[in-house]
Amino acid sequence: MNDIIKRKIILDCDPGHDDAIAILLAAGNPSIDLLAITTVGGNAGVTHTTRNALQVCEVANIPHVPVYRGCSDPLVRKGETAAEIHGESGMEGPVLPEPTRSAEKEHAVDYIVRTLLASEGDITLVAVGPLTNIAMAMRKDAAILPKIKEIVIMGGGTFGNWTPAAEFNIYVDAEAAKVVFDSGVPIVMMGLDLTHQASATGEVAEQIAQIDTPAGRLVNDLLIFFRKTYQDMFDIADPPVHDVCCIAYCIDPTVVECKHYRVDIETKGELTYGMTLVDRHNVTGLAPNVQFAYKLDHSKFWGLVKDALAAL
Ligand code: BDR
Ligand code: CA
Repeated sequence: MNDIIKRKIILDCDPGHDDAIAILLAAGNPSIDLLAITTVGGNAGVTHTTRNALQVCEVANIPHVPVYRGCSDPLVRKGETAAEIHGESGMEGPVLPEPTRSAEKEHAVDYIVRTLLASEGDITLVAVGPLTNIAMAMRKDAAILPKIKEIVIMGGGTFGNWTPAAEFNIYVDAEAAKVVFDSGVPIVMMGLDLTHQASATGEVAEQIAQIDTPAGRLVNDLLIFFRKTYQDMFDIADPPVHDVCCIAYCIDPTVVECKHYRVDIETKGELTYGMTLVDRHNVTGLAPNVQFAYKLDHSKFWGLVKDALAAL
């Protein structure tokens, strides 16, 4: 039997309903080697997002995957949460088991720096919350830059969801996003243009409701809550599970189609703070820095998610 070559990832997240599903997909797919989960303040404060991550790990039955608590606040601005979408705790809806362990003592930023420096350049960073931890790690020791295989980011897009111009993750810490997008490290960007195609349609939700495993039941509960808040806040009937796109790409890059574009981050605009400027026609003449995902294979994507949930 051939050994699968697993893709090593560190998942930096702020669970978060879609973050939780991303953790479950990473845990339940045999081609992912989930080295660690690092948490950041975003959808809720970092105390909540860390606890949520630990609770999802219980359901996923991954006691060997350490959880490192990261930055509570953005680099420059005051933190902002998304209680309107995810509830006060960041993951309202399901009843979750108490964590049977705590987060590691080491800070997430120190863990990221230490692990990358000791690596052979084969680790992918998957960042599905504000980019504070990743930017801090880059600033702490620039020697990590050539060690990062790729950064797969959920953030930005050619339209906003937190302001008319900006997507939530980039808006919360645009200064951090600027550090990361200007770093020269290969970036794959799953912005709203792509993630809004990852909709949990009624048909998908019905199929997930039939998956009678702890993970299947958790995602069913997550989607019930997420569907309601997306309907109430955005008038979107089928909620998009943004963050999951990043893990699906790590499992099978053909699940998305990308174009190589220049993307810059706005940090000064009065109305456009946190906007990602996607230079589709290379009007700036600047070298492209981002693989911009624009098309999702919906059926392949949900196939990966359903398989993982059934396996957990
Ligand atoms: C992003 O913001 C968060 O609310 C979600 O978890 C996702 O990472 C979507 O804009
Ligand atoms: Ca998130």
